[in-house]
Amino acid sequence: MRELQDRFGRSFHYLRLSITDACNFKCQYCLPNGYHPDGKPRFMTLEEIRRVLLAFAQVGTRKVRITGGEPTLRKDFEAVVDLAANTPGVQRVATTTNGYRLAEHAKAWRQAGLSQINVSVDSLDPVQFQRITGDSRFDLVMKGIDTALAEGYDKVKINVVLLKEHNGDQLPLFLNYIKHQPVDLRFIELMETGLHHDYFQRHHLPGAVIQQQLEQAGWTLDPRGPDDGPALNYSHPDYAGRIGLIMPYAKDFCATCNRLRVSAIGKLHLCLFTEAGIELRDLLGSDEQLAPLVARLHAALGQKHETHYLHDGNAGATPHLASIGG
Ligand code: 5AD
Ligand code: SF4
Repeated sequence: MRELQDRFGRSFHYLRLSITDACNFKCQYCLPNGYHPDGKPRFMTLEEIRRVLLAFAQVGTRKVRITGGEPTLRKDFEAVVDLAANTPGVQRVATTTNGYRLAEHAKAWRQAGLSQINVSVDSLDPVQFQRITGDSRFDLVMKGIDTALAEGYDKVKINVVLLKEHNGDQLPLFLNYIKHQPVDLRFIELMETGLHHDYFQRHHLPGAVIQQQLEQAGWTLDPRGPDDGPALNYSHPDYAGRIGLIMPYAKDFCATCNRLRVSAIGKLHLCLFTEAGIELRDLLGSDEQLAPLVARLHAALGQKHETHYLHDGNAGATPHLASIGG
């Protein structure tokens, strides 16, 4: 087996697999008008997903994150988890969800093999939460997080997209929450996507602002583990939870890139931003195509660029992150 590597010596053991573009929330920075399918979406079938997983596992994928859109909207979400968890070579299965089904299903998903959950919660103030997400189910989402903790998931994380006018000043509220909750908070700098230039201008807040506040409050940077991605992780002896900072505009962010993405319609994305996606679907129709599929993955990696060029105002081909899962 030859592992996937690019021209810059980076290895890729982590696959982010989107299984739907659809979402039932309306986050201001993502789908402010809600999800509207253009035409009839043809998302990958369970069989196609199985073949994607097999191929990636053959070239060294050890961790799979199931994303969307909102992945749990798919009726066969649990079956996808089960498939991923039972793919030889895959050691960890994670998902990123808005959490609206978590309270009800955390137990079953855990049993199906899900080991990590990231829940998007952009504010711990229910009114603010609704303003940002367009959804009133704050309490249900938080109950989902409690349920996941009780079910013994290896990791439960909360994703917070930093937004100048909405949560830029809410660090104390978040810190208070993780004092006793063993949850990892991830502050994600707002990224510019094709559709949201003005929103980006208005709300972008550098993660360095939070970084400064954390360091002043005695938080320290954890040493980087071998499989760690681009997040900087901080911890503090008085807190049960930890904090991660994701700053895609920071220098050298891309040097630790360890992930590849497959969209719900079966395209390989080498980066969130730089290209339109490489077709895989013509090779997902039968098990006999596994070898050419693997060959295409290797060939594609030869095209991966060193960085995302976001600094040049290039928001790339990605209209919003619901299309390839963040
Ligand atoms: N910038 C940063 N993060 C984003 N997400 C969605 N759109 C953006 C954006 N423009 C986040 C969501 C979720 C994860 C899947 O990606 O909030 O936590
Ligand atoms: Fe849905 Fe996630 Fe986009 Fe919010 S950020 S609208 S939860 S896909």
